[in-house]
Amino acid sequence: MSAVLLLLVMLIVYGVTQAYRKRRELHHIAAHFTYPKPHWLLGNVLEYPANDIPGIFETMVKLHEQYGQDLFNWGLLNDHMIIVSSATNVEKVAMAKKTEKSQIYDFIKPWLGQGLLISSGEKWFHRRKIITPTFHFKILEGFEIQDVLGPDFRSVPLTYSTLQNFPYLDMVVKESLRLLPPVSFIGRRLVEDIEMNGVTIPAGTDFTIPIYVIHRNPNVYPDPERFDPERFSDESTQRRGPYDYIPFSIGSRNCIGQRYALLEMKVSIVRMISFYRILPGDTMHEIRLKTDLVLRPDKNIPIKLIARP
Ligand code: HEM
Repeated sequence: MSAVLLLLVMLIVYGVTQAYRKRRELHHIAAHFTYPKPHWLLGNVLEYPANDIPGIFETMVKLHEQYGQDLFNWGLLNDHMIIVSSATNVEKVAMAKKTEKSQIYDFIKPWLGQGLLISSGEKWFHRRKIITPTFHFKILEGFEIQDVLGPDFRSVPLTYSTLQNFPYLDMVVKESLRLLPPVSFIGRRLVEDIEMNGVTIPAGTDFTIPIYVIHRNPNVYPDPERFDPERFSDESTQRRGPYDYIPFSIGSRNCIGQRYALLEMKVSIVRMISFYRILPGDTMHEIRLKTDLVLRPDKNIPIKLIARP
């Protein structure tokens, strides 16, 4: 009996020592980032409201406004994640040679399995290579449009090339994806150590890249909440860096379907606005956002459709 007790005590002492060592290592890394003061056991969990899903999203965004672009986020015990939105560090994570998807993707594994979005290494590489030609613009040129619209689509001959002739529509779609990026954050897990903010971040660390926050950087997008498609005129676009606008992510794990998605959005919009004027509903300003798998309003979207004569 006493031998079992001794073993138990030794195990506990070992566990506590290991946890203490890890905690010291994490404090050393965290000192190179900003963060709200963590609770010793619960970390920053108490910052987030319980039972208010849009409130959790709002808190994530507000923490960046209060503490800066790159945050160390403490979880329970030694659980942690680094949230980076500065261009320098987004580049380091998104362009790191080897990464995997972070723990936040575990929630969608039962649904998507080891498909293209979540898999990594050789398996991902081969599948990506096989699927990539599907979305080449040459393939899309011959796609989906007359069939979708049917013969009675109000005389606008929508083809791949005519859709290139709507530059303002293009700017509107881009500005919409800036303000409301459907994928509002992505996650990565380091497979190799990297240097960041003057400290070595070890393999295994989880990162979050908050696309929603990046798209609201006031130094890049003055008055960021204002909807202004002119931000995507050629001149304004040239003034920005490659990591300032990433609705489809960036690097080797970027969105394989982005050209198709843009076409699909443009076709839907052109078709809708040829029949209706679309206006914001009275309660539009009351919408709160939440992120399920993608960014969503907490309730329905109040819009007014006015039929065009
Ligand atoms: C507006 C629409 C869309 C947006 C904003 C979007 C955005 C994104 C983003 C941000 C990622 C990176 C995810 C990550 O790092 O975890 C991604 C990946 C991906 N997207 Fe999209 N996407 C859109 C539409 C589509 C469409 C229409 C398809 C397919 C037809 C598609 C297929 C994929 C796939 C397969 C990946 C994983 C690629 C890989 O890991 O190699 N997406 N998308």
